[in-house]
Order: sequence, then structure tokens, then C-alpha cells
Amino acid sequence: MCTHNVTKRLVKEAKINSLPVELKYWPIRRYMDIYKKSLDDIEEFWEQEARKLEWFRTWDKILEWDPPFAKWFPGGLINASYLCVDRHLKTWRRNKVAIYWEGENSEERTLSYSQLHREVNRLAVALRKLGVKDGDRIALYLPMIPELPVAMLASARIGAIHTVIFSGFSSMALADRINDTEAKVLITADGGYRRGKAIKLKEIADLALENAPSVEKVIVVKRRGQEVKMKEDRDIWYHELVKNIQGSIDPMPIESTHPLYILYTSGTTGKPKGIVHSTGGYLVFINSMYQWVFDIREDSVYWCTADVGWVTGHSSIVYAPLMHGASIVVYEGAPDYPKPDRWWEIIEKYKVTIFYTSPTAIRMFMKYGEEWPKKHDLSSLTILGSVGEPINPEAWLWYFKHIGGERCPIVDTWWQTETGGVMISPAPGIGLVPLKPGSATFPLPGIDAEVVDDNGKPTPPGVRGYLVIKKPWPAMLMTLYKDPERYKQTYWSRFPGVYYTGDYCIKDEDGYFWLLGRADEVLKVAGHRMGTMELESAAISHPAVAEAAVIGKPHEIKGESIVIFAILKQDHVPSEGLHEELREHMRKTIGPIAMPDEIYFVSKLPKTRSGKIMRRVLKAVVSDAPIGDVTTLEDEASVEEVKQVYEEFKKIIGHT
Ligand code: WTA
Repeated sequence: MCTHNVTKRLVKEAKINSLPVELKYWPIRRYMDIYKKSLDDIEEFWEQEARKLEWFRTWDKILEWDPPFAKWFPGGLINASYLCVDRHLKTWRRNKVAIYWEGENSEERTLSYSQLHREVNRLAVALRKLGVKDGDRIALYLPMIPELPVAMLASARIGAIHTVIFSGFSSMALADRINDTEAKVLITADGGYRRGKAIKLKEIADLALENAPSVEKVIVVKRRGQEVKMKEDRDIWYHELVKNIQGSIDPMPIESTHPLYILYTSGTTGKPKGIVHSTGGYLVFINSMYQWVFDIREDSVYWCTADVGWVTGHSSIVYAPLMHGASIVVYEGAPDYPKPDRWWEIIEKYKVTIFYTSPTAIRMFMKYGEEWPKKHDLSSLTILGSVGEPINPEAWLWYFKHIGGERCPIVDTWWQTETGGVMISPAPGIGLVPLKPGSATFPLPGIDAEVVDDNGKPTPPGVRGYLVIKKPWPAMLMTLYKDPERYKQTYWSRFPGVYYTGDYCIKDEDGYFWLLGRADEVLKVAGHRMGTMELESAAISHPAVAEAAVIGKPHEIKGESIVIFAILKQDHVPSEGLHEELREHMRKTIGPIAMPDEIYFVSKLPKTRSGKIMRRVLKAVVSDAPIGDVTTLEDEASVEEVKQVYEEFKKIIGHT
């Protein structure tokens, strides 16, 4: 049975799609009207959306489209920190909560919009005093504490460009990212908490800084109070830096196409890509999209469980909800710590109205069982969101029933670091279409999405193809930092003139989009995006490894898990010890998210005649599955060749 039939059955069971046909299709027709109109003239459409924000100066032009480079609202002057903070001070929101912070050990901190304003200003003034200028890069390597959004907004206030590095990354990954951006300042903390364990962030940062000479100043937040080494003339405690700062600094009018941030993400080569996001276009898009998708309001209590280190955290924790004047919840710790009802306890405590998380988390909580959410009053919830990976219908229904009380629509939001904001999703803020568990439904207004075959032709309903975006949109990445050629190559060369997402997708007979995961060499492990080449180069950097291939294996909870096939150098033999060493090496090189679940030491890897590793064969072997359709797009090899290699490789694995 295909997924779609399974879904139909599940929808029927859930009785959420049992409306008469006229009623069922009416919202779709209404949505289609809005959607089609938006695409008739995208410039006019986005101009109307841009007018919803306060600009210091309006734009000279709506769009300068020099394919594939887009400049949205050039000449316009705007400031993210002003929109997220100052604007609210003129309203009743000045004394409402901007941030509810909950520490792993249940400590609490609450910042009103006026307090947030004060904190952002103190840091912005201090950064200026340290010599940070418009256009300088600031690296942030922080746990989930209020200083993280504060630092982003302080950076935006003075026209600096922030790059947040996920606090789970290793010192090497941190150094690589700092070096690529040539950041002048690093803001970090003495440490963080994860499941009661201390994470020694400053120590990791110190190691990174041995190989990252651009950093002149390190600002250290005292989070744990643990002993750390402070380097004279370079390291400053955050609290001492801002202690005597009273004044404020006016938000700088920033030209719309000035970068707001750079965020690194994985692609199909070994080197992470620095995604550059603009200021004006990005803010316009995420402002509208948050109203459409989450129906966010100033009285919303909004909780996105992602880490600010990922794009979800940038758009969905910091910029969009604060622009809307909502209260955000920021939680520092692990989802199931100390008990599996920690998240449900937080929803009850802060009366969260909009909750946004990942399918991996939902599947994990499904395993713990519904008795945990049942202990708590979750009736404040109105909308639930899902992001980062395809959500399977079972998880969707569990979420709908046990968290949303069969009351809250689920917005399955498809997007990417590159897209800046949600592109395909139900949009209750415009009008809710009937939901199909597992489908992200339709593209948002202004987003010209299509599913195409290998030749770039639209696929018929029910046939898998590639998801592409045919028109520019305001929050699209501007380029890859210092690498415009790679930007062109990666996104705009597969199908000339359209943006290639790298995702497989099916459009069903009702026009619903079903996202099916990556079509390229990118893995999604617990929603974290990692490139196979990046993982392979980390594995090869171990002194005993001669060659390595990495694949994602389907995993019940994490969506995918990492499997490494490694060929050892001549004087090394496979052993338990080496196995552990390689796992540890992956952790040290990239971070705990790169720890493989399985490692196979082999003497040979399946390759095409042209020397390309046939990962599909490896996948089939570890999943104990047939190789299936081998005539597909990505394999260069002939069917016979793939089959032969598969059989051979199965034997090798059998002997390992
Ligand atoms: C995947 C995360 C299915 C997809 C915001 C995409 C999804 C990649 C969904 C981007 C979804 C994200 N359904 N797949 N709702 N949302 N993806 O850059 O493969 O970390 O290309 O951005 O996540 O991951 P990234």
C-alpha cells in the first residue's frame, strides 16, 4: 500500500476529513484564489507585505533580479532590532513578557520587552566600544540562554552580521566557521547543561581559538560559574562588560540587502556552506509567513523547541515571534530531562498557545507513552507545528490526539536554511485547508513551487520528482558566503532558471505536496542536517582510516541514523577498540550529533566504473532491503552493474 493510501485510511479513522465534498473543497478553492493571485504579480504582492513593516526609508525598487541573484527592496532602510524590540515600547507590550526562560534545573528568568530593550542596548553599546563596526562578523557559541537572542539583536542593532554556531559543535567545527567568516568577536559561555552534565563551552572555544586568529575579543557569559581560563586582553566577562553601561544606541538604519546573518549548513561537499540572509527581504517574508502559518498574535505564547543554532531557531524563536510582539519560551535543557513530561510541564506552566517541534521529538515521546502528556493540562494550545523532516502519519496522529487534544491543527512546515522561512505548509492564518497527515499541503502565497522530473517537466499526480521553486522570494539566501559560484552551481544549475531544493516530493491528485526526504547526499539525523561528504572527510581524518563511505539508515525515532563503512590502512586491523575510537573521533571532529550508530570495517566499497561510491547499494545492504529500482536518476551505473556489486557487497558484509 502506498503511503498515500495509508494516510487516507488514517485520516478516515481520525474523522478529521469527513466533511461533505463541497465543504471539504471550499477552503482549498479559497486558498487557491489567494495563491494564484499572489503569483500573478509577485512584486506587487510582496510590496504589499513589505508595507506591513516599519521602514526608516522605503525601497527604490521592489526586486532587482539578476538571476540567480536577488536583491529585495534595495534602497530600503530597516533594522531587525528595532522591529523586534523598540517598536513594542510604544505600545502596551512594553511591559509584557518577551522571553520566558526556563533553565534545565528549573531556574526561571523573565524579560519584558523593556528589559529586553535594555539588555540589547547594553550589549550593543559594549560591542561598539570594542570596535565592532557595521558589516563586521560576530560569532555566537552559546547555550539556550537569553543572552543568545540578546546578542543576535545587539548585533543586528549596529549592523554587524552574526553567525550562530550550534553549541553542540566541536572545537574544529567552531574554528572552521569562525575562520570562514573571519569573525572579530566571539560570544560564548563558561559552560552549559545537558541532561545534568556540564558542557565546557569555554574550554572548547579556547581550543578552537588556537586555530582561529581573526578573533580579537571573547565575551564570556557566566552561566554555570565553573572555573575557566580567561586570557588577558582577549577574554572579558559579559556581566563586567555591560555592568556600567546605562545609555542606549539608536538602531542603525540598515540597507535592505545588507546581510543580517550567516548560518552554516551542510551540503553535498565536505565543506559547510555559509548561507547569507539579507535584512529587509528576510524580515518581510518571515513576518508574513508567521501570520499565515501560525496565526501568531501579540498575545500568543510561542514555543519552538529547536536550538537557536539552526535556522528554525533564528526565524522561529527570535526574529518572527518577537517582531509580532508575542511571548517566547526558551528552554535550555533536554526534552526528557529529568522526566519524560518536562516539555508538557513547561506547556502547562507558561500556558503555551503555539508549539513547534520536530518529528523526531514526537516519535520519542510516542515511545514514552501518552500517560506523560496526560498528567498535564495542555488546553492552552491552539496550533501545533512540525519541522525538519517528513512526519509519518502515525506520529502526526499521535501529536494531533495526545498533544493537541484533537483540537489543534498541525502545521507541517517544509523549509530549509536556504529559504529563510516556511515555504510549504497549511496556513490557518489565511484559512485552513483540510489536512492530510504527512502532507505539508500547499505552498504559501508568493511561493511558486513545483515538482519536476529529471528533465524539469512537471510530474503527473502521484509520481515522485524533485521539488523546485520557480520564482524568487524575499527570504531566499542571497548567496553562499565568499562563494557565489558554488551558490549558482548548487541551487541553480540542476534545472536552469529554477531553485533546486534537493528534496524529493510527490503532488497527489488534489494538488497536495508530500515531502519525501533528500534526493542528494544530505542526511537528516534527528532533524539535524549533515552531508555525507562532510562525515566522510571527518572519518578519513582518523589516522587508521584509508577510505570511508557514509549513509543514512532509516531509524524508527531519529528518521535516519549514521552508518560508516571504512576501509582501514594497511597496518590496521578491525577491533572493538578501533570501533570506539572512530566513534569518539567523529564526536570530536564534528560533535555528538555526528556519532555513528553502526560502523563496518570493510576491504572494498561498491563503486561505479567511474569510481563513484554506490551509496544506494550500501543502504540496501544494511537495511536488508532489495536494491529496488536501479534505473533512477542518481546512479550512473547500469542496472546489471549495481546488482552485481550489491550481491558481492552483501557477501563482504556477511564476513565482517
Ligand atoms: C527537510 C530546516 C519534510 C528537507 C528548517 C529540507 C522537511 C531540509 C520538512 C532542510 C518537512 C524540513 N517535511 N522534510 N516539513 N522540513 N525538511 O536546512 O529535506 O536544517 O531540505 O532546515 O529538511 O533542513 P534545514
